[in-house]
Amino acid sequence: MSKTYSVAVVGATGAVGQEMMRTLERRNFPVGELRLLASERSAGKKAMFKGKEYTIQELKEDSFEGIQIALFSAGGSISKKFVPYAVKSGAVAIDNTSAFRMDPNVPLVVPEVNPSDIFKNKGIIANPNCSTIQMVQVLKPLHDFAKIKRVVVSTYQAVSGAGMKAMEELLKETEAVLQKKEYKRSIFPHQIAFNALPRIPQSGGIEEGGYTNEEVKMIKETKKIMGDNSIAVTATCVRVPVLRGHSESVNIETEKRVTVEKARELLAATENVIVQDDIEKELYPLAITSADKFETFVGRIREDDTVKYGLNLWVVSDNLLKGAAWNAVQIAEKLIAG
Ligand code: A2P
Repeated sequence: MSKTYSVAVVGATGAVGQEMMRTLERRNFPVGELRLLASERSAGKKAMFKGKEYTIQELKEDSFEGIQIALFSAGGSISKKFVPYAVKSGAVAIDNTSAFRMDPNVPLVVPEVNPSDIFKNKGIIANPNCSTIQMVQVLKPLHDFAKIKRVVVSTYQAVSGAGMKAMEELLKETEAVLQKKEYKRSIFPHQIAFNALPRIPQSGGIEEGGYTNEEVKMIKETKKIMGDNSIAVTATCVRVPVLRGHSESVNIETEKRVTVEKARELLAATENVIVQDDIEKELYPLAITSADKFETFVGRIREDDTVKYGLNLWVVSDNLLKGAAWNAVQIAEKLIAG
C-alpha cells in the first residue's frame, strides 16, 4: 500500500480553504485522514472530499493531534495563534497568511524558484503573497539570464483575494448598480463594481511613505524568495472588479539585453509558465482564461527602450490557485517527495 498523510485544512470553509481541498483532490495527493477546521460558526457543517462527506470541526488548540501536514488559510491572527500548536503536535504547517513570511527562520517558497528552501523548515513553511508568487515565477528565468536590477509592478487584483464575502459583495453591488438600487457594502471602503481601488485594505495597514501593506509585501517577499536583496522593487497594488485571476504589468530593468524572442524562449522553457504572446491574434493572458488553471501566463512582451536594457510583461495567474492553494499543495508535494 502506498503511504498516506494526515492533513488538516484550517479555514476549510473559506475561498482559499475550499480550493486547497479541491487541489488536494485534483492532484490526487495521498491524503489519509483529512481534518477540516474553521470557526465555531461552521462547526457541524458538511463538506465533500473525493466523494466522501466530512464534518467541519471548530479549530482548537488540540486540533492537530496526529496531523502531519497542516494547511493554514484562516487569516494572519489565526495562524499566529494556532500554527505553533500544529508544530508542537509534530505537523509541518504550510501557512498561506503573512504571519511568518518575513521570519528569517521560516522559508518562503515558490517551488519553481527556491524549492530547496522547503527542506530548511523547522516546522513552518510560508506561502508567499499571491501577487508576488506569479511575478517571481516569471522573474526567475529572466534574472538567471540577465540579472534584474529593478522591477516596477502594477497589479490588477481580483476580489477573491479578499475572501468569499468580497466575491459576494462584487456580485451583489454590480447587480444593485445595474438596477439603480442602494447597496450597503461591508468589505470594500468604496464601490468596487465598475471601479478600481488603488489600495488592498484586507492586506493590512499603511506603511512608511504611504505604501500599502500589500505593496510592501511584494517588495520584501520578492527579495527573500529570489534570495537577492539587490533587486530594487516598487509596486502599486490595485483591486479591480474581477472575481478570480490577478493581472500584473511588470517592467524590469536588466544588466544585459533580453530580446523579445529570448524572453519568450526563456519563459516558454520555464516549468508551469505559459507564454501567450501574439498581439495580432489578440492572444495575451486574461484573468478569465487563467481562472481554475495551475499555470502562470505571460504575454505582451516588449523591450523597454527608455532604459538601457528593459522589458515590459503582462503576467496573469489564478490568485486562489498558484497565488494560494496550489502553491501550498505544491510545497506539500515536494515535502513528501523529499
Ligand atoms: P468560518 O467560515 O467558520 O468563518 P475567507 O478568506 O473566504 O473569508 O475565509 C476565511 C476562513 O477562515 C473561513 O474558513 C473561516 O471560517 C476561517 N476563520 C475565520 N475566523 C476563524 C476562527 N476564529 N477560527 C477558525 N477559523 C476561522
